[in-house]
Amino acid sequence: MASLKEASKRAFQLRNEIGKHDYQYYVLDQPLIPDAEYDKLFQELQALEEKYPELLELHDSPTQRVGGKPLDSFQQVRHEVSMLSIRTETDISDQGAIAFDTRIRKELKLSAGDAPVEYACELKFDGLAINLRYVHGVLEQASTRGDGTVGEDVTQNVRTIRHIPLRLADCNAAVLEVRGEVYMSRRDFRRYNEKQRAQGLPTLVNPRNGAAGGIRQLDPSLVAKRRLSFFAYGLGKTEGWKLPATHSAVLDALKNMNVPVSNERAVVHGAQGLIGFHRRIEAQRDSLPFDIDGVVYKVNSLALQERLGYVSREPRWAVAHKYPAEEQITVVHDIDIQVGRTGKLTPVAKLEPVFVGGTTVSNATLHNEDETRRKDVRIGDTVIVRRAGDVIPEVVSVVLDKRPKKTGKRFDMYELLGGKCPVCGSAITREEGEADWRCSGGLFCPAQRKQALLHFASRRAMDIEGLGDKLVDQLVDGGLVSTPADLFDKSRMNLQMLSGLERMGEKSASNLLEAIERSRQPALARFIYALGIRNVGEATAKDLARHFGTLKNLMHADEEKLQTVPDVGPIVAQSIVAFFSEKHNVDVIEALLDRNRGGLSPKESAAAPKEGLPLAGKTFVLTGTLAMAREQAKEKLEALGAKVAGSVSKKTDYVVAGAEAGSKLEKARELGIAVLDEQQFLELLRGV
Ligand code: IVH
Repeated sequence: MASLKEASKRAFQLRNEIGKHDYQYYVLDQPLIPDAEYDKLFQELQALEEKYPELLELHDSPTQRVGGKPLDSFQQVRHEVSMLSIRTETDISDQGAIAFDTRIRKELKLSAGDAPVEYACELKFDGLAINLRYVHGVLEQASTRGDGTVGEDVTQNVRTIRHIPLRLADCNAAVLEVRGEVYMSRRDFRRYNEKQRAQGLPTLVNPRNGAAGGIRQLDPSLVAKRRLSFFAYGLGKTEGWKLPATHSAVLDALKNMNVPVSNERAVVHGAQGLIGFHRRIEAQRDSLPFDIDGVVYKVNSLALQERLGYVSREPRWAVAHKYPAEEQITVVHDIDIQVGRTGKLTPVAKLEPVFVGGTTVSNATLHNEDETRRKDVRIGDTVIVRRAGDVIPEVVSVVLDKRPKKTGKRFDMYELLGGKCPVCGSAITREEGEADWRCSGGLFCPAQRKQALLHFASRRAMDIEGLGDKLVDQLVDGGLVSTPADLFDKSRMNLQMLSGLERMGEKSASNLLEAIERSRQPALARFIYALGIRNVGEATAKDLARHFGTLKNLMHADEEKLQTVPDVGPIVAQSIVAFFSEKHNVDVIEALLDRNRGGLSPKESAAAPKEGLPLAGKTFVLTGTLAMAREQAKEKLEALGAKVAGSVSKKTDYVVAGAEAGSKLEKARELGIAVLDEQQFLELLRGV
């Protein structure tokens, strides 16, 4: 048994190791080891700590990031060094940078002949300022700015941010306070909102509120859910640490301690250098993974900073130079409904055009009915629109004070559309537990047509090679094709017509026609899948084909009958019935099958009874690399009546393991399921 001393040594090693991997993973996005290896380190540490709880007295364990209990309120913290703010230059032109440099030169009594001043340029992150107090390298306390003199103790919450080291690498300073911004990345913001939206829960207005509101949550587990991030931009109190000579060297030193520091920074000289940085970052603004509202210029020399000093709680040596705002106020003239590629109906606000986030915006998404109702956006309302990054603009909230006296009613999708798709007139539906209304028009709805054609032609459906995005656009926009049946209509799809299309050579035209010809006799399962019925994926299509044997049988099945098919539940059954009860869909199918038009003849499956087949009722899982193509093996098994599943469970009868089989093979062994190598598998196929 390890002694406490040994355990403590090992815990120290493990914590450092885990800290290093957290930095690689979260900050650098370059993991060095697979997750499973990381988990092993973590579990080893947890086991040690369970055995020796004394190890937790030092607050640097990654196992304790999310462990704190919800608080009733935050304690107040007096900052040893005040947390100041910076002056903002609102002139977003080059003039903003020139004015700052001129002021600095004047303060430093420099004349025209003197050398340009050296500046450190950084991003102005849009989040919440935080002070991280490290004592002998261990994170002891994290606090908000508050009024600059007294802030709040948010240590528990900040610990959940995995970007923030719990122990600094190679730093044993008695006190080192790191200052920086807690923010929410655009991706984490979008993901959080998507999840909330899907559950009908309130969304965050913008990443800044996500970060600021997150840090103020009393329950740390709610903070962890937001996946906040952090960038350092300066120091607070330091003791027992030798300050470098420049601000840029301070940030370099922090970076070496595994503190996250943005790489988008530069040391430049004079006003021209500032202007260059401002322009370069503006060009990159949309593609940054997080929001910024400007850049920050700081006199680089700490000695000069001291000479310049402060005016009214703002340093003279720094300034924020803004960019055009990513949120603006405008008026909603109308609310339109857009039909997406899967029939999803999205309310879109038609706006008084407004310049936001660098472009003029006149449409902004309202996402779905629930969001529109929750924000209570009505025609005539004044709203805040947000356009950040290359994401589509959205309506963030209503400025209720400005609501006109006479206003419409709360948004209601069904009522607004009279229950019909605005493009094709088909019924609209919203399934229980779903946030979206959808057009049930399927193949008939022009808005869905292009996507439907692409799906129809895709490799796993009808496998028509050469029918890609651009061609489908041309065919549909040119009125040549509007349903899959038209693809088989020789009066439309012929060499002469196709060669007339832009960028279509004779060779590719004839290749396409050949591919279409080759697809005239699809397996029934592929054909069903190709129709693009909601909730009917490849596996379900196969089950349906096997069960019903003919398309006709499937089309006539009611929900109850459909549910007798294995794996078909009420939702799938309902989707199928809804699809076949749309006359347009039936028309397209009839045209596809009509000898004089589509001329398609799906190869009918032997109806239901697979019982007679040798492998009926047996479930196989294929794993590892087989000499035979996986697809071929699957087809052979299915032809013999077997079912091929993707994962191993108690219901699996055989696992066929090729070379380098991994976790599925392990699981099979665990569950005691028969494992065949490829040789045995071939013998089995031959023998049955
Ligand atoms: S320096 C003494 N640098 O902007 C100077 N601040 O009013 C202290 N901010 O809320 C601030 N990015 O949290 C500095 N690169 C940056 C910054 C930055 C964002 C925030 C800061 C504060 C506000 C400044």
